[in-house]
Amino acid sequence: LHALPRMKTKVAIVGAGIAGLYTALQASEYADVVLISKKGLDDSNTRWAQGGIAAVTATSDSPALHRQDTLIAGAGLCSYDAVEVLVNEGPDRLKELIAYGTEFDRDEHGQYALTQEGAHSKRRILHANGDATGAEIVRALSARVMEQPNITVLEHHFAIDVVTQDDECVGVIVRKPDGEIFFLEADATVLATGGAGQLYRYTTNPEIATADGIGIAYRAGARIKDVEFIQFHPTALYYPGAPRFLISEAVRGEGAVLRNTNGERFMDKYHPQKELAPRDVVVRAIVAEMEKANVSHVFLDITHESPDLIRHRFPTIYQFCLQYGLDMVTDWIPVAPACHYIMGGVETDLHGETSTRRLFACGEASCTGVHGANRLASNSLSEAVVFGHRIVRRIKELPPLPQVRPLRVAFERSGRRASQTKEQRIKLQKLMLRYVSVKREEKGLLKALEELERMAQLYEDEPVEREDFELLNLVSAAVLTTRAALLREESRGGHYRNDFPDKDDLIWRKHLVQSIRAGVQ
Ligand code: SIN
Repeated sequence: LHALPRMKTKVAIVGAGIAGLYTALQASEYADVVLISKKGLDDSNTRWAQGGIAAVTATSDSPALHRQDTLIAGAGLCSYDAVEVLVNEGPDRLKELIAYGTEFDRDEHGQYALTQEGAHSKRRILHANGDATGAEIVRALSARVMEQPNITVLEHHFAIDVVTQDDECVGVIVRKPDGEIFFLEADATVLATGGAGQLYRYTTNPEIATADGIGIAYRAGARIKDVEFIQFHPTALYYPGAPRFLISEAVRGEGAVLRNTNGERFMDKYHPQKELAPRDVVVRAIVAEMEKANVSHVFLDITHESPDLIRHRFPTIYQFCLQYGLDMVTDWIPVAPACHYIMGGVETDLHGETSTRRLFACGEASCTGVHGANRLASNSLSEAVVFGHRIVRRIKELPPLPQVRPLRVAFERSGRRASQTKEQRIKLQKLMLRYVSVKREEKGLLKALEELERMAQLYEDEPVEREDFELLNLVSAAVLTTRAALLREESRGGHYRNDFPDKDDLIWRKHLVQSIRAGVQ
């Protein structure tokens, strides 16, 4: 056991996607901030967001309509109050993003160009550089962050755990790039660590999406909610040798249709909104068509639209597909569902505070209640800024931190080879894909849970490298997701059970919350 070196700040923020960058900027207006990023500032899940950001700007639209669409997509499990906050405060936060330098696309009249995505009743999604919205937001916000003298950015630093004292969070243990560890004491700690796409073998998320916030908060005793609800994106590229690159829902919003491998459109058999039905509906329809034909993909066809629209509206996707010899202007694009987003996460109140005082969660890491069982497209970027803003309001009111007692920790070298960690991650991803993905059932879930709990025991004692800690977080999240998926004996939103195919509002219009102290509630 040894005492850790210390550093002190008012606000510690873990994560450098939209939630971390924006919250850091807002907090820096009155406090010193340390922003911890496990990679560089340009490497986040936000960076890959294509479709855009949903907020009401058109006179023909209204927060009430946005609220209604969000609640319908959420399949009965959204928090009404959280959705109210999102739809009413989204437009002002959007203005701030613009003031921070984000350039959204405009139409020929100079108005912001609005696109459509699944389950939205109006065109209300702003985008940038066609289909590179996240990259533009990250560019603008990180440039601002680098200009702020009172934001210290620690790139390639990894947050291992938060520290609690008398049920309050008092800061975070951080691993430097050289492996040294120190304690960052903070009045408030914000987990803006993003999602959990790496739970699955096939995901639209980058390598860094390893459920760190869920793992860290769970170990600290905070409540984890709704993690059985995983959103698969209907259309990720499916092509030999290519990654599961996201083909934005906005492509369908601009007219693309889905075809099975016989060339037939099929969505009208499944939902009146056809290709623009809620995501979970489209995903299950695609899986049903794939199973019927015993194939691993369907096609996305936008060849009937003008070449100009395709190339200008979707430059990133167009170029990416072209690298593999697929020309969206003339070719149908082979696509299949891939893990995209986790609706659940670290439970927060309406000011982003978790059940552990002074510990906040923001963005995909959090469960504010906005998404319910299924997130409405392009609500995630809005959620991050709306609740980031509220977190800073709450932090301002916090009394100073009490005296923090000296902290002692032990991390031993394990001698385990990195390849073992890699093998274990792949094993976990395969288990999750096989037993805990789009369609689930009791037998498979039980098998997965048993294996995952065994892995959790194996990994508890001796992580050393960043990848080991990431695996620890992934294993925790996998266990929590699988356990909740096993318990929820119904189908709703991003959770579908073959053995309980119907929604059961009588018993299951409720949430599953898990914590170290109270187990499952
Ligand atoms: C997309 O562009 O299809 C993704 C949008 C989202 O996940 O909200």
